Amino acid sequence: MSAAVASAPDPPPAQIGKRHFIRCLACHSTSASARPMTGPHLEGIVGRQAASLPDFAYSETLRAQDFIWDEARLDAFLESPHTVNPGMCLTFMGLPKPADRAALIAYLKAPAP
Ligand code: HEC
Repeated sequence: MSAAVASAPDPPPAQIGKRHFIRCLACHSTSASARPMTGPHLEGIVGRQAASLPDFAYSETLRAQDFIWDEARLDAFLESPHTVNPGMCLTFMGLPKPADRAALIAYLKAPAP
């Protein structure tokens, strides 16, 4: 029994990423059906056009930009939010470790319950 526990595999990245999403929870949900929050919901964010939710009042700055949130964009933003997108996600200071960013992106792609 204890041997089985000792050799248990690492949790999947999305589960680790869910822990990092704690930094986003105050302002974001991962579900389009969640109640409105300070930030836009992040359902389907990987591959989503920036500032594209019709019901969210985005800043002029983000609305003026034309790009898709692919993994590379998200990774750059998550590493250094305020150099990449100044004024967005104000209290989020960044995730310096690449593995943490990869786990969070895995979670955003497939939010585990
Ligand atoms: C203090 C509140 C706050 C926190 C914390 C926060 N955000 Fe945000 N986020 C916002 C707001 C507000 C916007 C809209 C910004 C704009 O319109 O310029 C936004 C926008 C975004 C967008 C762009 C969405 C789109 O539709 O283009 C992404 C992606 C995003 N946040 C990811 C995150 C992630 C991931 C975290 C956690 C690591 C996080 N945010 C933490 C408030 C927050």
